Amino acid sequence: MTTEATSKMTLLRDLEPVVEANLNRHLATAKEWFPHEYVPWSQGSDFDGVLGGQAWESSQSKLSEVARTSLIVNLLTEDNLPSYHHEIASFFGRDGAWGTWVHRWTAEEGRHSVAIRDYLLTTRAVDPIALERARMRHMAVGFASEYGVDVIDSIAYVAFQELATRVAHRNTGRISGDPVCEQLLVRVAQDENLHMLFYRNLLTAAFELAPNAAMRAICEVVKSFQMPGHTIENFTRKSAQIAMAGIYDLRIHHDEVLTPILRQLRVNERDTLSDDGERARDELSTFLASLDKAATRFTERRQVSRQRANARAAPA
Ligand SMILES: [Fe+2]
Ligand SMILES: [Fe+2]
Repeated sequence: MTTEATSKMTLLRDLEPVVEANLNRHLATAKEWFPHEYVPWSQGSDFDGVLGGQAWESSQSKLSEVARTSLIVNLLTEDNLPSYHHEIASFFGRDGAWGTWVHRWTAEEGRHSVAIRDYLLTTRAVDPIALERARMRHMAVGFASEYGVDVIDSIAYVAFQELATRVAHRNTGRISGDPVCEQLLVRVAQDENLHMLFYRNLLTAAFELAPNAAMRAICEVVKSFQMPGHTIENFTRKSAQIAMAGIYDLRIHHDEVLTPILRQLRVNERDTLSDDGERARDELSTFLASLDKAATRFTERRQVSRQRANARAAPA
């Protein structure tokens, strides 16, 4: 076995008691909920095709274009669960506390796509045929973790990713203009928050076990972070629309995703770092400073373009 593989096994074993404690905390905290209660079934009707109902038309959707885009991105992201399960099951294993967590997490995530799809179809918010074709294309691509065999990189990625997903759901609900949609996405976001807490606690424990390796892993993950749905068709265009609407942008990513987790990990206060750990912390702080600047530039440009759009829309 390679040294890398041995250290992976050792770290997984050393973290097992932390996984068990956090699994128990999670199970005691997570409240059971039912996706069907969040879907306004009375608004639904048969579609054309097999049942001979009414075909979908864009005029039936009550949602704005960007709300639809964001819901579709969030749903396709959730739809790729089989690939995420494959990645974390092959990585963390299916035995002991790790395995129990992997299966429980997968079951909880499974509710998200069920609930969001039921909402979108019942309310005729999006084109059901385009949605299904997009799901087929997206899932056919799959999702592969960029972080290979490194345990801490993988834990760091999921900690940031769960919080990013929480914020994306929460803000999509907020801009949807539909209280039923918002209520559903608030509920989904609560699940993502508990997932984030689980992984963040694990990352904190990894920091205690291997401070320099943890610091390097966090630095690399923050620098290379991509949303889990980044392989969705036209993701760049869609995420630009989502950023312009203030649902998820660089400012939110910096202030509401990266900063709170890094603060909680006490990255800047750690005094057990040496050599590469110190270098990684410096690199991280340089990266964050440039991200902060880019976020400010983006929000300024957005402000200007909104003002221009308002001026164009105003009567002469
Ligand atoms: Fe989810
Ligand atoms: Fe999650």
